[in-house]
Amino acid sequence: MRVLGISGSPHHRGNTELLLTEALKGAASKGAEVETIFLSQLNIAPCQHCDACFEAGKCRINDDMQMVYRELKAADRIILASPIHFMGVTAQAKAMIDRCQALWARKYKLNLPPLGNLRPRKGLFISVGGRSVDNLFEPTLATVKALFSSLDIEYSGKLVFSGIDDKGAITKHTDALKKAYLAGQKLVED
Ligand SMILES: Cc1cc2nc3c(=O)[nH]c(=O)nc-3n(C[C@H](O)[C@H](O)[C@H](O)COP(=O)(O)O)c2cc1C
Repeated sequence: MRVLGISGSPHHRGNTELLLTEALKGAASKGAEVETIFLSQLNIAPCQHCDACFEAGKCRINDDMQMVYRELKAADRIILASPIHFMGVTAQAKAMIDRCQALWARKYKLNLPPLGNLRPRKGLFISVGGRSVDNLFEPTLATVKALFSSLDIEYSGKLVFSGIDDKGAITKHTDALKKAYLAGQKLVED
């Protein structure tokens, strides 16, 4: 069981990363092999909508996204973690998501498994947002569910916290880190 955590936050050791780290610790405690990708450290260009992937079944842009494709393919469980930026995922996460158009093309244009094999995959979404408003995570959740569905990753749930704004504020939340640890355990047990 290989679990891939993807952090879309530009903050190193920020709220998102702290939650993701705990979730991966939980997964590892159940024997999973875990890997983390920090998108802000990578060079991932936005999708150019050139449609080359419609025929090639892969993206022609040769940047760090090629490594992300390989990691997605190797994973059994995916944890996508991004804070809310203007009601959506961060630009770092959105660039990665849009580049999954090449995987969408494999599925819907070429009738191929999007990730190259039919391994059953499940995905968890982790997020934090500074504001405390209703439906804070709804637009982002729609994006994440669209991504998971396109990649044949079964959506297994979310762990989200509103009203978390200052860097590291999540550590002051009563049981957020504990919940993340348990969510990581549950993800590999499901
Ligand atoms: C560019 C930008 C846009 C943001 N937009 C929102 C927003 O729309 N709603 C919200 O609740 N918080 C918003 N925030 C606040 C972050 O979601 C919040 O500070 C979060 O805790 C950051 O998590 P991190 O430390 O993991 O990066 C925004 C922050 C930035 C920098």
